[in-house]
Amino acid sequence: MGLFMGQFKCYKILTMGLVFLIWILYLKMFWPDSITYRLPGPRPASKFASNFMESPSLFDSLPQALTNLTYLLYWPPTPGDGGNLLASTSPRTSTYHLRSPARASYTLGGHLEAILVARDHWGKPKTHGGDLFRAQLLGSELNAGVPGDVQDLENGTYLLSFPLLWAGRAQVQVRLIHSSEAVGVLRRIWTEKGATVDFKGYFRGLEGPEEIVICNVDPQSTGAKKATCQYRDAVSGELWFCAQPPTLPCNSLVGHSSGRYLKVTTQHDEHLLARNVTDKVLSQGISPILVRPAATSNTTLTLSPQLPCRPGLLFPKPSGFYHGNVWRSLGCSSRSFPTADSILGCLAGRIVHMMGDSTLRQWWEYLRDTAPSLKPVDLHALYQAGPLMAVDTTRGIVLHWRAHSWPLRSLRTPVASLHSVVRELAGLAGGPHTVVVLGLGAHFTTFPPSIFVRRLAGIRAAVMALLAREPSTLVVIKLANTGYKSVYGSDWFTLQVNRLLRAAFSGVRVAFVDAWEMTSSLPLPDNIHPVKLIVRNEVDLLLSFICPT
Ligand SMILES: *[C@@H]1O[C@H](CO)[C@@H](O)[C@H](O)[C@H]1NC(C)=O
Ligand SMILES: *[C@@H]1O[C@H](CO)[C@@H](O)[C@H](O)[C@H]1NC(C)=O
Ligand SMILES: *[C@@H]1O[C@H](CO)[C@@H](O)[C@H](O)[C@H]1NC(C)=O
Ligand SMILES: *[C@@H]1O[C@H](CO)[C@@H](O)[C@H](O)[C@H]1NC(C)=O
Repeated sequence: MGLFMGQFKCYKILTMGLVFLIWILYLKMFWPDSITYRLPGPRPASKFASNFMESPSLFDSLPQALTNLTYLLYWPPTPGDGGNLLASTSPRTSTYHLRSPARASYTLGGHLEAILVARDHWGKPKTHGGDLFRAQLLGSELNAGVPGDVQDLENGTYLLSFPLLWAGRAQVQVRLIHSSEAVGVLRRIWTEKGATVDFKGYFRGLEGPEEIVICNVDPQSTGAKKATCQYRDAVSGELWFCAQPPTLPCNSLVGHSSGRYLKVTTQHDEHLLARNVTDKVLSQGISPILVRPAATSNTTLTLSPQLPCRPGLLFPKPSGFYHGNVWRSLGCSSRSFPTADSILGCLAGRIVHMMGDSTLRQWWEYLRDTAPSLKPVDLHALYQAGPLMAVDTTRGIVLHWRAHSWPLRSLRTPVASLHSVVRELAGLAGGPHTVVVLGLGAHFTTFPPSIFVRRLAGIRAAVMALLAREPSTLVVIKLANTGYKSVYGSDWFTLQVNRLLRAAFSGVRVAFVDAWEMTSSLPLPDNIHPVKLIVRNEVDLLLSFICPT
C-alpha cells in the first residue's frame, strides 16, 4: 500500500535507543522541578477536562499505535557515510526503470510499476535504504497528477507504484528529497537534540522597562542558568518554560514571539542537507506512457464508489488525484464549490472553528476572499496568532481561525491570545451546526516527537469528549503539507508528524484532508504555504464533508 504502510510492512529492526530517549525526555517534561504558574483563562469546563492530563489513564486512552513510537516512526536505519560526502546518495547517478517491458498502452485502472536504484556520487549502487524519494505520475496536458507509492526494499532499491487513474498521456517524475545520510542527520537531531529553535517571552511590570527572556518547551532549552518559570495551561496541562526574568515576576509574562534557529549541525551535516543535493529531479527513466480506457468502459477516469463524504470513512492510498486541476477523492464523492454562492450555501447556519497554523489560516483567507459576503472582523489581525473571525450575518455563518498555542513561531503576539486547542475544544458545545478543523504539525518539527505526541494525546481526548457530548459535530483534521526542506523543517519530519496525527485519531470519527498528498501530485514547486489552486481543493474537500450531498 502507501508510503506509510509500505514502511510498516518493512518494519524489522527496532531502534530501541530512540524510544528510550523519547521517554527520558518525556519524563523530564512531565515532572519538571520548578514552580508552576497558572495561565489566565476560563475555568475548566469540567472536572474531566481539568484532570485528564494528570490522570494515569491518559495513556490508556491513547491508541496502541501512538504509544509504540518505535513502531510508528520506523525508518530504515542509515549506517552512515563514513564521513565521505561522495558516499551519500546522489540524485545524478540514481536511476529508475520500468519493472516489466514497456507496452504500447496501459489500461485505465491498472498500475505502473518501476524499480529505482539508488547510487552514491561515484555511481556505486547503495546497499541500504532510508533515502527519501518522492514520485509522481503527471498528466500535464490534462492538469492531472497523483502521488506514487515508494516502497523502500532496504537494499538500495525502491519499488515505485503508480495507479493509472485517467485516460491519456502520463509521465513519471521522481525526486530525491534527502539522501538516507541526510535523513540520518535529521533523525539524530530529532531524537537526540532538544528544541532546535527558541522563543522570546516579554514580561511587563506596572512600571519600568519590559524584560525579554528565552522561552521553550522544556527548562533546559531556555538556557536559564538559575530558575525557570513554568506555565501550565489550566485546562490542557500543557507546559511552557521561560528563563526567570531579571526583576519581574513569572506571572508578568504578556508577550510571545519566535526566537532563534539554534545551530545544531556540523559542516558535514550541512553539506548533506545542501541545496544542490536536496529536492532534485532524477533524470527521466521512463518514456511517457499512454493510458486507454478498458474496452468495456467509456469513462476517462477511475472514480471512487459514490459514497457521500463523512467522517470515519477509511480512505485508500492514494486518497485521490488531480484531473483538470480538481482533486478527485477516491474515498468519497468529493464535490466542487466553484462560486461564492455554492460556498455560502454550504456554510449557511454553521459556525466553523479552525485551530492550527498558518497553512490552516490559508483556508480561512481563501473563504474570506472567495465569498465576499463573509466579512472579516479583523480586530486582532495584527497578530499572527489571531483570533480571526469572518461572519455573514444574513446566512448565519461564523468562521473562526486561531493559532494553536505554544510552540508557535510567530511575530510578537499576546500570551492571552494563545489558547490551547484543548482549552478551546473543552469550551465548545458542539452539534450539527458546529465544524471543528484542526491543522497542526508544521510547528512541531523543531522538537523531539514526544512533544507532539503529548499534545496530540490531549487533543485526541478533547475531540473524543466533544464527540461524546455531541456526536453530530464534524471534526476535520488537516494533515501537514509538503514544503519544508531544512534541518528545522523537512518533508521527512512532516511525514513523521503525519504518522503521529493519523495514529492519534485512528478509531476516532473524524475526517482527514490529506494535504500531504494534495501538495504532492502536481508539478508545482513545494511551498509550505501552497498556492491558491491547492488551497481551493483542500477547502472544497472540507466543504464536501460539511455538505456531502
Ligand atoms: C511495538 O510494535 C511492534 C510491532 O507491532 C511490537 O513487536 C512491539 O512489541 C511493540 N512494542 C511495544 C512496547 O508495545
Ligand atoms: C532488494 O530486495 C528485493 C526484495 O527483497 C529483491 O527482490 C532485490 O533483488 C534486491 N536487490 C538487490 C540489489 O539486492
Ligand atoms: C554542492 O555544493 C558544494 C558547495 O556549496 C560543493 O562543495 C559540492 O561539491 C556540491 N555537490 C554537488 C553534488 O554538486
Ligand atoms: C457508454 O456510453 C453510452 C452512451 O453515453 C452509454 O449508453 C453506455 O451505457 C456507456 N457504457 C458504459 C460501459 O459505461
